[in-house]
Amino acid sequence: MIDKIKEYIGEAQSFSTENKEELEAFRIKFLGKKGILNDFFAEFKNVPNDQKKEFGQFTNALKNAAEEKVKSIVETLESKEETKGVFGDLTRAAEPVLIGSRHPISIVKNQIIDIFANIGFNVSEGPEIEDDWHNFTALNLPEYHPARDMQDTFFIQTNPDVLLRTHTSSVQVRYMENHKPPIRTISPGRVFRNEAISSRSHCIFHQVEGLYIDKDVSFADLKQTLLYFTKEMFGKSKIRLRPSYFPFTEPSAEIDIYWGLKTETDYRITKGTGWLEIGGCGMVDPNVLKNCDINPDEYNGFAFGMGVERIAMLLYQIGDIRMFYENDVRFLEQFKANI
Ligand code: PHE
Repeated sequence: MIDKIKEYIGEAQSFSTENKEELEAFRIKFLGKKGILNDFFAEFKNVPNDQKKEFGQFTNALKNAAEEKVKSIVETLESKEETKGVFGDLTRAAEPVLIGSRHPISIVKNQIIDIFANIGFNVSEGPEIEDDWHNFTALNLPEYHPARDMQDTFFIQTNPDVLLRTHTSSVQVRYMENHKPPIRTISPGRVFRNEAISSRSHCIFHQVEGLYIDKDVSFADLKQTLLYFTKEMFGKSKIRLRPSYFPFTEPSAEIDIYWGLKTETDYRITKGTGWLEIGGCGMVDPNVLKNCDINPDEYNGFAFGMGVERIAMLLYQIGDIRMFYENDVRFLEQFKANI
């Protein structure tokens, strides 16, 4: 009887198949209810006592051999099926590749940079943590100047000389300190103002400011530059410069573009006037040039500044400025086409 079991062990060990039905037949033959193993187990009580131990060991060995064989063949068959799943169907659609998208602020900022690059402006950058000189004093805003209140400044700790820049005009000061005219530069960057957060304003936003310094620069040059920009950026060809005040420019103006009154949204965003304000500008005050070691009798120039969020909100019809900073993928994904 033991020899018979040994024979079966050999049979079980050498069994091989790639066919599920054959495997099932093998399983039933050895491990099934009426299979060989159960016959042997049933036989156990008839085995003479002195052979019981050996008989038991061999039946168990047979059981293990059969079970292991079934297990290993099932595994090979399954892994073959998986491979077939991936490579078997060549008409299967490809796995979609998830691509990211640029942030709308970056898209608009890059567009502005490109537009000004075409007329010879380079890009300058500076620190977000500024000192009083570059953010205020050099820009003709001496200590106690009332216009400092216009810009609700975040100071760092209690030192009034260290602050978060309230505009990127600070970069223009740094640029003039380090470069001789002619100067044509735009300064994009993040700025900070201690303002209540609402759908229309935020304590962190982005600006692009421009500076042009040369001999005999006129207000007409400023207007033409801005007109060129609005045509390129918005496809609108009518602007107006409304008299205003900035300490660092004289004369100063607010830049309005004629948006039109075609749709209901146009009425809403222009408050029924058709005109939209997009920034400030003016001829650089001689005091600012002096502060930066540029001779105002020899050189003059213009400067302008605008908010990037404002422009992005107009272009993409975004109703709430806070959406730019919430990092909601459902919002960000909508800009995939603009990479
Ligand atoms: N620095 C001004 C602001 O942040 C904008 C500006 C720039 C106005 C240059 C005039 C000239 O509001």
